[in-house]
Amino acid sequence: MSSYNRFPVMSAAEAADLILDGSMVAIGGFSPAGAPKAVPKALAERAISLHQAGHPFQVRLLSGASISASSEDLLAESGAVSWRAPYQTSGIMRKMINAGKIDFTDMHLSEIAQMVDYGFFGELDFAIIEASAIDNSGRITLTTGIGAAPTFAAKAKKIIVELNAYHSPRLEEITDIAFLSAPPDRTPVPVCHPMDRIGCGYLTVPPEKIAAVVETNSPDEIGAFAECNDTDRKIAANLVEFLLNELGTGRIPKTFLPIQSGVGNINNAVLKALGEHPDFPVFSMYTEVFQDSAAELMDKGKISGISASSLTVAPATLERIYANFDFYKSKIVLRPQELSNNPEVIRRLGVIALNVALEADIYGNANSTHLFGQNIMNGIGGSGDFERNAYLSVFMLPSTAKQGCISSIVPMCTHLDHSEHSVKVIVTEYGVADLRGLSPRAKAREIIEKCAAPEYRFYLHSYLNSASGGHIGHDLSKTFELHRNYLQTGKMLS
Ligand code: COA
Repeated sequence: MSSYNRFPVMSAAEAADLILDGSMVAIGGFSPAGAPKAVPKALAERAISLHQAGHPFQVRLLSGASISASSEDLLAESGAVSWRAPYQTSGIMRKMINAGKIDFTDMHLSEIAQMVDYGFFGELDFAIIEASAIDNSGRITLTTGIGAAPTFAAKAKKIIVELNAYHSPRLEEITDIAFLSAPPDRTPVPVCHPMDRIGCGYLTVPPEKIAAVVETNSPDEIGAFAECNDTDRKIAANLVEFLLNELGTGRIPKTFLPIQSGVGNINNAVLKALGEHPDFPVFSMYTEVFQDSAAELMDKGKISGISASSLTVAPATLERIYANFDFYKSKIVLRPQELSNNPEVIRRLGVIALNVALEADIYGNANSTHLFGQNIMNGIGGSGDFERNAYLSVFMLPSTAKQGCISSIVPMCTHLDHSEHSVKVIVTEYGVADLRGLSPRAKAREIIEKCAAPEYRFYLHSYLNSASGGHIGHDLSKTFELHRNYLQTGKMLS
């Protein structure tokens, strides 16, 4: 093992003590994978003790994507955070954001590194990153989530490294770190195949910036997915049938195209269905997170290779990957998120983007983030990076929520993340609306007939028929009638 004795080795609490009130702190990793574990918790404890002693203490907290839910919960609950970006999945953080107690900026994940690089967030005081190896020259091997850690480490004034013995330093063999220069000097990204490597397996930082090394030994906080339900399975089956038909007609090449798959139970059901269908060809993925279901398909030979920003897999799957590293190493590339989600590369490779929305409207706009236009769920994450640039942009969602009291297909989305200009296909458990080349009114008929729950179709058709207007018809007195009904009575339709 290489020596790192030139750096101060300290406890998480001592490292957290280096961080001052008002600091801008950037946390590495991507999803809970590769996210530092000990120092964020110690930072929350520092906030609690300082607050109890009557001192102010809050930081501005930036990350690549989500971090572990327990760290996020503690940081939110302790009052340690004044501002947060770009994505979170914690119940407590969400509540505090929606209560106006924490400022939150919801952003496309591909843009984080360049926004830091351009100085759009101001200076970064600290980067906290997780490593599987470090040496005295400042060479660092990251762990399971690359995210924006390379840029955070390059730009931060000081770096705190959590050296996690749980992770294999062999991760360097599947990591590919490259930096994009800022315009006007940016050059094309030379990734022409999902498995292309264009950078280096490790990071090199000026040793004098490393303020602390904190030794840890703990797995990523990633639980198993819940079992898929019937609706998830029907959505997956509809999507698979649609994709096979596209393949049959030659609109998707016979070799197939790389798939991007969002996270969650529907996406898990989709990957399973793609993997199990005998007619579906072997495929590759150019995506954001490598999930458990993808590892299973790789084992079966159904997935040839995956480019992602993280190995967001349960500990048992990760241990399997570590134990059979020679098998996996040629099939996985982990990249910084500005490359895993890079618009130029996504467009070049012809990625088929499969993401989940909370609601879609009859004209093909989709909302992934804000319930009733107000309360944030998680954030847009990488969905927009892929959907805006994909070969085929697909949104999937159950036709109803809250036991049928909410229709997920509505006259107008209460918040817009993905516009009608990007969304090409919508899939629910009832069917597939293929919106390519359709006018707004034709889109509306297709979405209502193929995707809306039958009990809401009459209302939606009536809305469409009575909606006056020009190119797109709306009755502004009724646009949000369904949402208002739900908020007043607990049901969109009585
Ligand atoms: N109106 C109101 N509430 C709704 C709703 C709607 N149309 N649709 C769902 N909900 C509620 C659900 O009832 C559930 O409520 P609960 O927490 O009280 O049970 C909640 O919203 C979450 O819905 P659920 O269906 O469980 O969501 P999910 O886990 O399948 O996640 C997204 C769906 C859209 C939130 C998630 O995919 C996401 O965050 N997407 C954006 C980021 C992204 O796409 N990342 C991947 C890109 S690479």
